[in-house]
Amino acid sequence: MIHGTVAFVRIAVVTGGNKGIGFEVCRQLAGSEVTVILTARDEARGTAAVKKLRELGFSGVIFHQLEVTDGSSIDRLSDFLKTRFGRLDILVNNAATRGCELVDDPSFGPKPTMEKFSGMDGHQRVEWMLRNSQQSFDATKEAVQTNYYGTKQVTEALLPLLLSSDGRIINVTSGFGLLRFFRSEQLKQELNDIDRLTQERLDELLDAFLMDFAAGTVEAGGWPTEFSAYKVAKAAMNAYSRLLARRHPALRVNCVDPGYVRTDMTGHSGLLTPEEGGARVVAVALLPAGGPTGAFFDAAGEASPSFV
Ligand SMILES: NC(=O)c1ccc[n+]([C@@H]2O[C@H](COP(=O)([O-])OP(=O)(O)OC[C@H]3O[C@@H](n4cnc5c(N)ncnc54)[C@H](OP(=O)(O)O)[C@@H]3O)[C@@H](O)[C@H]2O)c1
Repeated sequence: MIHGTVAFVRIAVVTGGNKGIGFEVCRQLAGSEVTVILTARDEARGTAAVKKLRELGFSGVIFHQLEVTDGSSIDRLSDFLKTRFGRLDILVNNAATRGCELVDDPSFGPKPTMEKFSGMDGHQRVEWMLRNSQQSFDATKEAVQTNYYGTKQVTEALLPLLLSSDGRIINVTSGFGLLRFFRSEQLKQELNDIDRLTQERLDELLDAFLMDFAAGTVEAGGWPTEFSAYKVAKAAMNAYSRLLARRHPALRVNCVDPGYVRTDMTGHSGLLTPEEGGARVVAVALLPAGGPTGAFFDAAGEASPSFV
């Protein structure tokens, strides 16, 4: 109690909180007096992550199972939040897949991870990822389902709880989600023209991408050709964020690029630690009330209205 009033504790949900950037976001939010619902699709991995945080002294972290592509799992989380808190203040849509398989690089031999990339700059590391990845249809579909549809489904289900508070939605995006990677000017324009774009059209575009991928016409269709599923799904998530920000001006809906981070997603090739990447996400989650909405926060932490 502070002078007769109960101190306000914010409630946050983080998707894919069991490892990588998501785990760090949970840790740093918990260290900022936020009650964190760390969610993970796998119960054992999620409870192990919560145990680790509790051992570090963060007692305000709670586990809840969440598979972002599963409607019944989302409903269970929503019911839990309604019953336990009656509201949600912060939603961090972090869960994602990379949209391709990373294969073993025999040239590295048994070197420890830290040594593998020493002497390589960011560009060379991305080139390494590209050389050692394979884009299958399964991984492509999984990335679209998780990174775009999963984010959208979780958000729509939790919206009523977010609208009842100073709600913030932070969609963890990537520089790869910028529209500059699209080959077709028409696609770029369509995805950028937020005055004319609709939710239905966005879903149609994702269907068209998957059809082009299956038919081997990604390049002819004007889509990004390298890391295509990841880039298309993140660009779609960015466009969805902008549509949502317009639909609900009372909310703060923003996209944050955490930078190139050493996690499983990048085969630990990144330049930043998960702590550094997570801090960029948390900084936007904890912005003072009335800040930007519908913005893209780049690696320097600057809010930009442009997603090109
Ligand atoms: N690492 C980078 O350089 C980088 C750069 C830009 C943006 N990002 C973005 O940062 C976010 C975190 O990435 P990261 O590097 O920390 O990746 P990561 O270490 O691979 O972690 C991804 C997390 O998402 C979870 N996840 C995947 N599919 C899921 C699903 N269907 N339902 C629920 N959870 C699911 C994973 O759970 P499991 O453990 O069960 O697989 C894991 O917890 C992603 O949105 C990514 O696109 C990363």
